[in-house]
Amino acid sequence: MKLKCISCSREYPIDEMIYYCKSCNDLLEVVYDTSEFEKKASSSDWRRLPLSVWRYHPFLPFKDGATRIALNEGGTGLHKCERLAAFLGLKTIHIKNEGENPTGSFKDRGMTVGVSKALELGVSWVICASTGNTSASLAAYAARAGLKRIVLIPSGKVAYGKLAQAMMCGAQVVQVKGNFDEALEMVMDLAERYKDVYLLNSVNPFRLEGQKTLAFEVCEQLGHVPDWIVVPVGNAGNISAIWKGLQESKSLGYISKLPRMVGVQAAGAAPIAEAFEKGSSEIKFIEKPETIATAIRIGAPQSWKKALKAIHESNGLATKVTDEEILSAQGSMAKLEGIFVEPASATPVAAAKNLIRNGTIKKDDEVVCVATGHGLKDPDVITKFFEKPIEVEADIKALEHILGLS
Ligand code: F0G
Repeated sequence: MKLKCISCSREYPIDEMIYYCKSCNDLLEVVYDTSEFEKKASSSDWRRLPLSVWRYHPFLPFKDGATRIALNEGGTGLHKCERLAAFLGLKTIHIKNEGENPTGSFKDRGMTVGVSKALELGVSWVICASTGNTSASLAAYAARAGLKRIVLIPSGKVAYGKLAQAMMCGAQVVQVKGNFDEALEMVMDLAERYKDVYLLNSVNPFRLEGQKTLAFEVCEQLGHVPDWIVVPVGNAGNISAIWKGLQESKSLGYISKLPRMVGVQAAGAAPIAEAFEKGSSEIKFIEKPETIATAIRIGAPQSWKKALKAIHESNGLATKVTDEEILSAQGSMAKLEGIFVEPASATPVAAAKNLIRNGTIKKDDEVVCVATGHGLKDPDVITKFFEKPIEVEADIKALEHILGLS
């Protein structure tokens, strides 16, 4: 088990506190020998544990007996959605509802691993820049670990539910007069300067180790591999993590084929989708990203190289959806299936709708959409863009009239 640069392959010990390659400055990933996995898996009872991130402990970068900072993350529902499938013109569609995690987003999968690692490294502080969900998750897990916590967020651009979570869980919340990309630059600088501060954005390779467990889970829940896995893309860590999990599952012989990955961005913040559409292997960052899906309002995704690799290797694609399409998909998921997600998390269903219409996804294809965060995170968007409740006098006749009963 070691850290390895994704560009020049330079290797580092697993316990070195490092985020970028010292030779070429590119991102790192955790690499294992398959035999290492097999040895750990065969000497443990992991298959008897309930679905959760830690069920997959033989495939996570810890020694046996390491302290785990956990709140019951992972093991989220994979919901078969027949009404939504019929609406989209598909035979079946599944929603992997990551809003069921302890702080209401998929970030908890990464944070349980990242904060456990922070304890092992012996730091006092953990820090991140965030569009909201990472900050909520970091604050909760750091509280549980007794670590000091700082989060930087773009001023005025974080949904209130998320901000409330970070504040309540005792993070020092700093609003930056700039966007997420600028806040991320600042925390990366700080983590470089102060060795007692551990950076927990998804450039941290341990975060992605936790997030890869979604791939293991989906294949176990379905009993096979779907044709497509559709994922919202912001900083591009999650799609990279899911792809890593799928590849590791395959190398272990747990699955025999791989799905095609679809990365979905909001039209006003879509540098990866635009690079893919142009057939370019480089991306052009967007200076002023804009979308109502504030979770993915990101113009300079750090893990873009990992994400494009996942998309190309899987014979998948990257695509973008408009804010109108996002709101419409958010409404369909809630009204047809009772699955209430935040706007960013509706982008996969919005994209699936377009891809079915243009024939890329076929009627019989099996599709899994990853719903990354709970709808309660962002109540403002509902009061702003959806129908308001009606009001009546406190009188039965008025009620009957309004309901069309008289
Ligand atoms: N969906 C939601 C709800 C998110 O909060 C994020 C990212 C994504 C999708 C995209 O995931 O960055 O791995 O491609 N939110 C980060 C944050 C940036 O700070 O909470 P990604």
